[in-house]
Amino acid sequence: MKVGVPKEIKTHEYRVGLTPGAAREYVAAGHHVAIETNAGAGIGATDDDYRNAGATVLTSAAEVFASSEMIVKVKEPQPSEWAQLRENHILFTYLHLAPDPDQARGLLESGCTAIAYETVTDAHGGLPLLAPMSEVAGRLAIEAAGSALKRSTGGRGLLIGGVPGVQPARIVVIGGGVVGTHAARMAVGLGAEVTIIDRSIIRLRELDELFEGRVRTRFSTIESVEEEVFAADVVIGAVLVPGASAPKLVSRSMLGWMRKRAVLVDVAIDQGGCFETSHPTTHAEPTYEVDGVIHYCVANMPGAVPLTSSQALNNATLPFGLALANKGFSAVLENPYLRTGLNVHRGRLTYKAVAESLGLPFSPIEQAAA
Ligand SMILES: NC(=O)c1ccc[n+]([C@@H]2O[C@H](COP(=O)([O-])OP(=O)(O)OC[C@H]3O[C@@H](n4cnc5c(N)ncnc54)[C@H](O)[C@@H]3O)[C@@H](O)[C@H]2O)c1
Repeated sequence: MKVGVPKEIKTHEYRVGLTPGAAREYVAAGHHVAIETNAGAGIGATDDDYRNAGATVLTSAAEVFASSEMIVKVKEPQPSEWAQLRENHILFTYLHLAPDPDQARGLLESGCTAIAYETVTDAHGGLPLLAPMSEVAGRLAIEAAGSALKRSTGGRGLLIGGVPGVQPARIVVIGGGVVGTHAARMAVGLGAEVTIIDRSIIRLRELDELFEGRVRTRFSTIESVEEEVFAADVVIGAVLVPGASAPKLVSRSMLGWMRKRAVLVDVAIDQGGCFETSHPTTHAEPTYEVDGVIHYCVANMPGAVPLTSSQALNNATLPFGLALANKGFSAVLENPYLRTGLNVHRGRLTYKAVAESLGLPFSPIEQAAA
């Protein structure tokens, strides 16, 4: 397979579709990898790093698209990229098509086969290509909170772990899934006092076992959320109700009862946020204050650490990408997890929920492939 990796062109996107290490795996499996010059610059990977991995470096995205059969990216294709996709291309990247009719039209008109990272599943019904970014965001949430608590950034001057003889920060994590677990892991590691709230009793049991008593767990009710939030120095919002906007679990009126200059980190902001007063912020200006409470609501947290994020993403995408490179479209038909990843094929939408959101016809895979 001729595999092509263009440089990401979405604003402030520094990740890369294939790291040099992943490119080497494709080459070792007998594939040809072509990468656009400087595509790895955001993670400190030079063109020579890719050449040493066995890849060919091309001078423009146009050359990459024209010479490749499979395109591996990170973010959804931008308008100039749709225009270069053709019927014989397999596109493997995040798409997030449901709210994006323009991109959907671009992909449908191109005739390409597009597999979305975010809808590829695993044997446990999980989303293995979304999980690494949730891991990164969960761990970063505690770093973000630590920095927002510092006096130098306008915080109340509290060290998350305290020191011997001084009590540490009280951190409450709402939602004990991937983000919440990784946030709790970091917070426990720093010595904070950590409580995880979830509405799944099964999940709370798992967390209790996992942390061996080093976190408190509470079942999610209006009362438990209020009690914990009012006593917290930091609240991490990490809930997800699949397919729905995040529930608003902390209202504006609750802010007045919280500790002054406490910090809310709303990781669920990409699903609308779970605090009533949240609105998306950027890495350039990550925080704002409402009623004396500091809010951090960056919608693309993993973008702050593209080196870690690219490696984590590549570790997860590699087996699926290699299966696609080895077998082409047959891999989609044979592999049930890649099959759920297929969103667009030869001008048809093959993912039901996406088609419904866009108000466009849905075609089962066999029909689209016939
Ligand atoms: N801001 C970012 O950069 C960024 C990055 C990655 C993920 N995210 C977002 O973080 C959120 C969490 O993702 P995840 O991968 O951890 O999801 P997940 O499905 O692994 O976990 C969500 C958890 O929330 C719990 N939950 C749902 N409703 C609840 C309620 N009312 N009270 C308490 N718990 C509740 C669920 O039981 C589940 O355990 C998602 O919105 C995701 O899109 C944001």
